[in-house]
Amino acid sequence: MKPEATPKMTVLSSPVGLKSIISSLVAFSIIVGFAAFLFYQGQEGQVLMAIEHGHQEMQVQVAAEHHEQLRVKEAKVQLTAEPPDVSKEECNWSTGQWVYDNVSRPLYSGLKCAFIFPELSCDKYGRKDAMYQHWRWKPHGCDLPRFNATRLLEKLRNKRLVFVGDSLNRNQWVSLVCMVEASIPDDRLKMRVFNGSLISFKAFEYNVTIDFYWSPLLVESNSDDPIIHRVEYRIIRADRIDKHANAWRDANIIIFNSYVWWRKHKPDMRMKVMYGSFEDGDARLEEVEMVDGFEIALRKLTEWLGENIDKNRTRIFFAGSSPTHNWASNWGGVDRNKCLNETEPVYKVGYKATGTD
Ligand SMILES: *[C@@H]1O[C@H](CO)[C@@H](O)[C@H](O)[C@H]1NC(C)=O
Ligand SMILES: *[C@@H]1O[C@H](CO)[C@@H](O)[C@H](O)[C@H]1NC(C)=O
Ligand SMILES: *[C@@H]1O[C@H](CO)[C@@H](O)[C@H](O)[C@H]1NC(C)=O
Ligand SMILES: *[C@@H]1O[C@H](CO)[C@@H](O)[C@H](O)[C@H]1NC(C)=O
Ligand SMILES: *[C@@H]1O[C@H](CO)[C@@H](O)[C@H](O)[C@H]1NC(C)=O
Ligand SMILES: *[C@@H]1O[C@H](CO)[C@@H](O)[C@H](O)[C@H]1NC(C)=O
Ligand SMILES: *[C@@H]1O[C@H](CO)[C@@H](O)[C@H](O)[C@H]1NC(C)=O
Repeated sequence: MKPEATPKMTVLSSPVGLKSIISSLVAFSIIVGFAAFLFYQGQEGQVLMAIEHGHQEMQVQVAAEHHEQLRVKEAKVQLTAEPPDVSKEECNWSTGQWVYDNVSRPLYSGLKCAFIFPELSCDKYGRKDAMYQHWRWKPHGCDLPRFNATRLLEKLRNKRLVFVGDSLNRNQWVSLVCMVEASIPDDRLKMRVFNGSLISFKAFEYNVTIDFYWSPLLVESNSDDPIIHRVEYRIIRADRIDKHANAWRDANIIIFNSYVWWRKHKPDMRMKVMYGSFEDGDARLEEVEMVDGFEIALRKLTEWLGENIDKNRTRIFFAGSSPTHNWASNWGGVDRNKCLNETEPVYKVGYKATGTD
């Protein structure tokens, strides 16, 4: 089947209208070093951004976790904000290619970073080829500035940045923290704390906090345990998000992601949605299509953000679907091999598969 959806990132807006959050996104460039956020205007005033993931481990994880179909009815998510002014940005980061660059890459060493999870540390566990560490995203028409950890820390001074979502965002967190922590050689000046769904990195000299918070379905759900999360029979609570939101409501920058957990593992997979609560005696369960569950969660999230986030203080990003490459044919091979022995990126310019195959 031909891939249809386009990888994209969507700026959430809220019923209350977070216009200024959205416009301030344009000025936000510090994340460029680990992911290229791309702004472009979609149809009907929707604001869309695409994200290019620069790390293979993330892509492998996507492939391993999810290989069923989901069509996002993106049109169903109402976005009311006006698009950001991108006129100053001449170069479109969403069109480009991976270039081999063993001079300015890698940006961190998996052997040295104390914050990397074992399952992501390929070199530590014997992967022989190191080429995967040397890819750089090169937009047509410009070069992204090289990541500079000191500059990032200066920009984030006295601030808290939180990634919220599933393992894709957790990988982004790991990558960013590994890129940053190498610039702080003194172990006494940095710290990592695990506290349930929250993993926190602190750079004391700068009073910078970079966190990851696990909530793959955004709203409260039966998948909220960061370690033992149920994969099948998902249940979300349509009107409950506070437990999660309390963990990131004071952040200065929040990067949400959600997509892969709404995909179907089986053709008949559906999402259970709970309204009310057992404690209040008004619990009610409904079953909906997975993608409709996604819409319910996005509505609750945007409603919460609209009511609770001071848009002068907090910037919001949202990463939606991301490219997958589950099948050898993506590289020009034979499909039954999946991604066995594939160690290089898909070079096809404009490749956009999002797991619709
Ligand atoms: C950037 O490129 C993408 C993909 O080709 C396109 O959809 C988008 O409209 C472009 N954005 C701008 C601002 O030209
Ligand atoms: C970078 O790659 C080129 C081409 O493969 C090779 O000739 C060169 O020795 C490499 N440089 C380093 C520093 O690894
Ligand atoms: C990184 O940024 C800092 C602070 O802006 C600057 O002093 C330093 O020269 C930069 N490093 C590189 C390699 O560009
Ligand atoms: C340190 O950063 C936090 C945000 O993470 C902020 O609330 C606090 O005011 C900062 N402390 C100082 C002394 O600026
Ligand atoms: C862990 O998080 C809880 C809130 O979920 C908080 O009350 C507690 O103080 C945190 N513990 C540490 C050690 O940070
Ligand atoms: C946000 O900033 C604008 C411009 O500085 C100001 O007019 C507005 O009152 C601020 N809003 C809040 C909620 O602080
Ligand atoms: C994968 O690579 C290994 C080691 O190079 C090789 O023995 C094996 O035949 C390859 N498998 C395929 C399907 O190409």
